[in-house]
Amino acid sequence: MLLAVCISASLLSCGNHSGGASSVNGSDEGGSETFAASDTNNNGSTVLPEGKNHILVAYFSCTGTTKALAEYAADILSADIYEIVPEVPYTEEDLAYYTDCRADKEQNDPAARPAISGTLEHAEQYDAVILGYPIWHGQAPRIISTFLESYDFSGKTILPFCTSHSSGIGSSADNLHAAAPGANWLDGKRFASGTSKDEIKSWLDGIEGSIFHAPVNNEIGNFDFEKKTVLLNSGYEMPIMGLGTYSLDDEECYNSVTALLESGGRLIDTAYMYGNEKAVGRAIRDSGVPREEIFVITKLYPGEQFAEPEKAIDDALRKLDIGYIDMMLLHHPGENDVKAYLAMERAVADGKIHSLGLSNWYVKELKDFLPQVNITPALVQNEIHPYYQENDVIPYIQSLGIVVQGWYPFGGRGHTQELLGDSVISDIAKSHGVTSAQVILRWNLQKGVVVIPGSSNPEHIKENLDLFGFELTSDEMSRINALDRNEKHDWY
Ligand SMILES: Cc1cc2nc3c(=O)[nH]c(=O)nc-3n(C[C@H](O)[C@H](O)[C@H](O)COP(=O)(O)O)c2cc1C
Repeated sequence: MLLAVCISASLLSCGNHSGGASSVNGSDEGGSETFAASDTNNNGSTVLPEGKNHILVAYFSCTGTTKALAEYAADILSADIYEIVPEVPYTEEDLAYYTDCRADKEQNDPAARPAISGTLEHAEQYDAVILGYPIWHGQAPRIISTFLESYDFSGKTILPFCTSHSSGIGSSADNLHAAAPGANWLDGKRFASGTSKDEIKSWLDGIEGSIFHAPVNNEIGNFDFEKKTVLLNSGYEMPIMGLGTYSLDDEECYNSVTALLESGGRLIDTAYMYGNEKAVGRAIRDSGVPREEIFVITKLYPGEQFAEPEKAIDDALRKLDIGYIDMMLLHHPGENDVKAYLAMERAVADGKIHSLGLSNWYVKELKDFLPQVNITPALVQNEIHPYYQENDVIPYIQSLGIVVQGWYPFGGRGHTQELLGDSVISDIAKSHGVTSAQVILRWNLQKGVVVIPGSSNPEHIKENLDLFGFELTSDEMSRINALDRNEKHDWY
């Protein structure tokens, strides 16, 4: 399921250091990943979709003008971003040009190479670099030469841009070629302070060739009905239908997971609370199905697990015993939920977990929670069925680039018969020659909701995967949509 990996880390600021590097999360503002300037500062990992150009936006900025435009570019292209941070920060005095300040002296000395703090990790993975800098006395600051001379850019494309008070880009970019002689240098452009994101986009769109053009089709969250998968914002692919294991005891769970895998299903949802993580892991190990084909979701439960999340994560890894966890969710909001999530983020950086998510989080809960964490959840799993459709919640979650998954697709215990026997659903089922369960699951998929029906019956498990030989018409979708009663069947 892994497509390609890069590391994200902290951003260090240049102008206003008070003794050390301050760390902020670059994805808050721009939605793009921030790249490591320091190898001691990794705080997460992310994944680049296969086939995507590996583009880096590298920039130097002392007063924020270049930084803003670099962030626009990175955001537009979903590229990685790296700030060139001087080992010795520039003070206001250092930047007071025409006073023989430090910056003036460096610009007057062609051999000056101010040191850079930290290193750019995995520099070799980039095909193209957008390089941003301010104009200092008509030229790029000398630290840009330090940067270019520190890595091998031969064969890579470099697109320079600069910001200035009034000067043009002039010879500043051409004069950098000597520092990265084997690179394919494109013509650069100068921008004024206050340039908008749209202007940056038009500039990039106008570059010949496609490498710097914004992706036309943002695939994240779109269901691929042929591959039966969805691309998550973490870069991993997840099957769009699978098996829920709530209430399945050890042997039942083992048999159900085995039946699922034998029938071609590859997505399994478990939780600490279900007490069956060991059975899930055992069934996977015994199945002979390659590990990387299988996607396992498990969850941390409020209380002890949220209070000691590192221990809880290791506990889940040990019980499952399948190497890594494809996705870990918080079971529902509770005390220490942010603490638990941040621990899961660290486990992502350590490779223990691939993707993160939340369960039983609604609009208000998400609005409160998201600003407190760094990695946007890849998935939210909530109660969803024709009598409780969450028509206000689902579009909101999807608008954040988060995939929605439904639990209790058949209404949950005590309600299944009523829902499966609902005349609207059974009529539609009859007209397609399928079961009511298949209609409900297909309705979910067509709404962009991943399904994980629970079952211990191998025939049902097989049937629940067979959702691709028919399609509901928009009229049928509307008739099911009209069944909504906003009737929640569980307390979460
Ligand atoms: C040492 C120094 C020299 C500068 N020289 C020029 C210049 O030659 N022409 C110009 O238009 N602006 C010049 N500026 C202004 C910067 O290019 C401009 O403010 C730039 O957008 C700052 O980018 P930043 O906020 O990303 O650091 C200079 C600024 C400094 C600090």
